[in-house]
Amino acid sequence: MYYRKIQIICICIYIIMIGCDKKQITFHNNVKKIIHTKCAVCHNPKGAGPFNLISYEDVSKRSKMITQVITTNYMPPWPADPYYRSFLNEKNLTINEKETILKWIQNGITKGEDTPNHILDSIFVNKNQDKPDLQIYMQKTHVTNDLNTDEFLMMKFPFELQKDTFIKKIEFVANNKQVVHHINAHLITYEENKKKNIFQGEYVVNTEIFSDDKAFQKMDILNDDDTYPLLTPSVANYLPGSEQTEYPLGIGGYRAKKKNIILVNDFHYGPTPYPERDSSYFNIYFSDSPPKRQVQETQLGTFGISKINPPLIIPPNEIKKFTTKATITQDISLLTINPHMHLLGKSFIAFAVTLNNDTIPLIKINNWNFRWQYFYTYKKMLKIPAGSEIIVEAIYDNTENNPDNPFNPPKEISERIGFNGKGSMKTTNEMLQFIINYLPYQEGDEKISLDVQ
Ligand code: HEC
Repeated sequence: MYYRKIQIICICIYIIMIGCDKKQITFHNNVKKIIHTKCAVCHNPKGAGPFNLISYEDVSKRSKMITQVITTNYMPPWPADPYYRSFLNEKNLTINEKETILKWIQNGITKGEDTPNHILDSIFVNKNQDKPDLQIYMQKTHVTNDLNTDEFLMMKFPFELQKDTFIKKIEFVANNKQVVHHINAHLITYEENKKKNIFQGEYVVNTEIFSDDKAFQKMDILNDDDTYPLLTPSVANYLPGSEQTEYPLGIGGYRAKKKNIILVNDFHYGPTPYPERDSSYFNIYFSDSPPKRQVQETQLGTFGISKINPPLIIPPNEIKKFTTKATITQDISLLTINPHMHLLGKSFIAFAVTLNNDTIPLIKINNWNFRWQYFYTYKKMLKIPAGSEIIVEAIYDNTENNPDNPFNPPKEISERIGFNGKGSMKTTNEMLQFIINYLPYQEGDEKISLDVQ
């Protein structure tokens, strides 16, 4: 009797399972939402993606390519391993989402009953209803080269204010998203009477031709007496699909003076076969009060607080591992991090080891891709106790199997020694950097969510 009952239950479960399997996955019911939230943010007429992924037709006609890019994790671009450490605004597909898309394609790309594109509409409505207090445009529209090669530029955006002002957010707005690949910007502020004219000098310099020192000279960045003005690093960062990091109220922010320059030290335009016009700009949001907790930035490795071991010299035809380590002397709360290498990068891992020998995973990138160098923000502040060691291990591939290798046959490539923080993307040099943004730890920080929405 008992066995019979189990038999009947099993048969029932089996029938239910078959029933579920037969329940069709359709574009409108199951797939559209995933495509709109995880792909259409870039694959839209104004986005960085080379074609639209919005309608049933857009997606179904590329189903083969989509199978390929999502099984290899090439798309959506999210180099960080989500199983090692998760971050805010992750772009990767969950296992379920991936399976849904793949099954839908295998089962014959069924369209299903039409529903309005309401999901997409909600993505494009600006979540941030704040209006910027100031917009700073490029001094002149930039026209890219038509040689189908990347362009790496330094560009300055000077602006004057009536009085010293607190700024809560500086946001880069890419105008021509097809070509603007990424930017990293610093804020330079001038003390009273240290600089007469912030607008003179060149507004753009090609950093593949000129060293950073030369570029500074050409752009007339230094004070009139040739001393250095105050530079606050990484006030704005942009990559296609990324949003400007903004911390909860009272954390972060900047003090601007009457005379200021936003200096984009890494303005990367992707290759195009035709000259493209771009007039990107910055939105600036003021704040009434000074930042209560000032975010600090430091970096391990190249130009940073820790040596690279062995020195960063990558012989031709070798895959080689390098390490850099730094001890944290006070309790800190990590907010945002950025791993940085150039074209030979293969993989990257960073973790902290506490005095109790506990490991705190920070980030792991299994397949480095120099095109997608995000600033990753933790979901909650991440406490690293005093005495911990932050350890970074990076592997470089200088063989001809690395499709990004700029030289064939491969050549020896090493670190470039320059003077200001971050280096350019010159193909002849490599970097190994781990940039961290943090606060001195306060009781309860680890409970504070960094999601401002
Ligand atoms: C952060 C922006 C972004 C997101 C999000 C994104 N893509 Fe892309 N996608 C791009 C860019 C830029 C390219 C072209 C450059 C390249 O191939 O690397 C591209 C290229 C592609 C290609 C062409 C690849 C090839 O070999 O030519 C496919 C297919 C694709 N994406 C599918 C997807 C799918 C499916 C999703 C969502 C699951 C997605 N993408 C999410 C930016 C994005």
